[in-house]
Amino acid sequence: MVSKYLEGLTWPSIDLMPMLDPVLKIGVMASGRGSNFEALVKATLDNTLNAQVECLIVNKEECGARLIADRYNIPCYFFDHRKYEKREDLDKKIIEVLSLYKIEGVVMAGWMRIVTPVLINKFPDRLINIHPSLLPSFKGNRAIKQSLESNVKITGCTVHLVREAVDTGPILIQTAIPVFSDDNEETLQRRMQIEEHKILINGVAIAASRWRETNQG
Ligand code: GRF
Repeated sequence: MVSKYLEGLTWPSIDLMPMLDPVLKIGVMASGRGSNFEALVKATLDNTLNAQVECLIVNKEECGARLIADRYNIPCYFFDHRKYEKREDLDKKIIEVLSLYKIEGVVMAGWMRIVTPVLINKFPDRLINIHPSLLPSFKGNRAIKQSLESNVKITGCTVHLVREAVDTGPILIQTAIPVFSDDNEETLQRRMQIEEHKILINGVAIAASRWRETNQG
């Protein structure tokens, strides 16, 4: 009997990660638990990804991502979004931090705020997001709930470049995940995150090799 956890649905798998020399400097933005952030950090530490996570930016004082940053000695900057009248003002503060570290690319790993062209244009094609659906389906908030309510049998996750319209940018990589009849938000999210942690690394690697090719041209 085929296991219901069909590994074959994880596609494509990238065995050969690009050599990035010098190592890529990335900044991460997160609002939540931080499991994707941690997956990225681990991939850099075990050299799956030739990159260094230089800093973390959070907008929730108590978020799990912040504790993870402490654990790995990664500088963490907290900006309370409620203190900024305009989204653009928060984006400017974020740029200030990223500029300090000469960041080449930025990963929004569960960043729950809409970003503006101020940030997007500062990092053209260098701002990456991870979303828990097979975009363009189920954009926006609570994508997992949306997919359950729509009764789809296959969902997935997407790593993509960020554009002004939420969850619309060019797709870097996706993975399909089956939805089981007894799934709820928690069970589906748990399986989703296992796949997210893999494709986020691959998505960053795909984007980074393009950035480096462009630099050489
Ligand atoms: C992930 O499911 C991601 O797709 C979404 O927010 C969640 C963040 O999870 N954008 P975590 O904080 O990385 O555990």
